[in-house]
Amino acid sequence: MIPNHIKIGNSATYLNKYIFDHNYSNICILVDDNTVSNCLNKIKNDLRFSYEVFQIESGEEKKNLETCAKIWSYLTENTYDRSSLIINLGGGVICDMGGFIASTYKRGVDFINIPTTLLAQVDASVGGKLGIDFNNFKNQIGVFKVPNLIVIDIKFLATLPERELKSGFAEVIKHCLIKDEEKFNEINKIEWSENNWDQIVRHSIEIKSDIVRNDLEEKGIRKILNFGHSIGHAIETTYLHKNNKLLHGEAIAIGMICESFLSVHNKKLSKNELDKISEYIINVYQPIKINFVEEILININQDKKNINQKIMISSLNKIGKCEYDIEVNHDEIIKSINYYNNII
Ligand SMILES: NC(=O)c1ccc[n+]([C@@H]2O[C@H](COP(=O)([O-])OP(=O)(O)OC[C@H]3O[C@@H](n4cnc5c(N)ncnc54)[C@H](O)[C@@H]3O)[C@@H](O)[C@H]2O)c1
Ligand SMILES: [Zn+2]
Repeated sequence: MIPNHIKIGNSATYLNKYIFDHNYSNICILVDDNTVSNCLNKIKNDLRFSYEVFQIESGEEKKNLETCAKIWSYLTENTYDRSSLIINLGGGVICDMGGFIASTYKRGVDFINIPTTLLAQVDASVGGKLGIDFNNFKNQIGVFKVPNLIVIDIKFLATLPERELKSGFAEVIKHCLIKDEEKFNEINKIEWSENNWDQIVRHSIEIKSDIVRNDLEEKGIRKILNFGHSIGHAIETTYLHKNNKLLHGEAIAIGMICESFLSVHNKKLSKNELDKISEYIINVYQPIKINFVEEILININQDKKNINQKIMISSLNKIGKCEYDIEVNHDEIIKSINYYNNII
């Protein structure tokens, strides 16, 4: 079931209706240098309310305190009060950071997220995690807060570079692997780019919101959404400062292969299923050899999911079934990265 505050359809229509029904003193639309032209331009003639636009440079590097300070300053200087509304129009960076800014400005003002990348639509938009990077650690500072409204408008995907679309698709694969074997078999039968994005987005949002509904703050079952992310995140962080930077989904795709390997190692997933998962993922993504294993291990020690300094991952029992808080050690992680490097 898709929660009531998430709407899928025409973003301008939903925005007009929501704003007509509420009484906001000031409205600011937060965009980056890509979404201002690709997304705001697409809907601005249909918006029936007045607003100001605040534009930031695009990129994960800008998801930091300095950018927050600029936006908080702008809101303060322009006397935005507690009845203001912030509309975040962009990918995960804009939605995570804009939501964080809104949730903390004057102890919290209303905000609407309009995710414009596949990753943000199928993942970042659902679940109320907001935040910024700090001291090179991703999402180190943040809060849990559900936006007042989320509108998913798949027309925005048309301008998304293919590499970004594919990156978001990794979360779709993850949702199938942890919860829906049938859907995994279905996407397996076609080229990844031939997917019907409207259906894919609905499917992912249903799965994620069902999981998050009873565990917003990730005390238990929500941890299965981290499948592929313990190793994937550590790879992503490690490669952030290398020449061949990886997109989030590209790193998670590798993480899912490694963590599927560990699921077999833990005698849960079958070898056949591991082969099926690895083959599919390798077929979709450009294989890259993973080096800097020592650095990856250092980064994995920082993982928010660790308990008492033990590394905890989510692990597949079978395709479509996942469990969490499974302890792994450095040796096993190294083996899993070696496995990945050997099959690509
Ligand atoms: N809150 C969560 O639960 C959650 C979940 C997953 C990821 N995230 C976060 O999301 C971020 C990654 O999200 P992302 O991949 O959307 O990154 P992003 O916001 O940087 O967007 C990727 C690129 O696409 C551009 N773009 C966005 N929409 C476009 C469009 N419609 N057409 C053309 N270009 C467009 C952006 O300007 C940017 O250059 C990370 O910071 C990650 O931590 C959060
Ligand atoms: Zn992710």
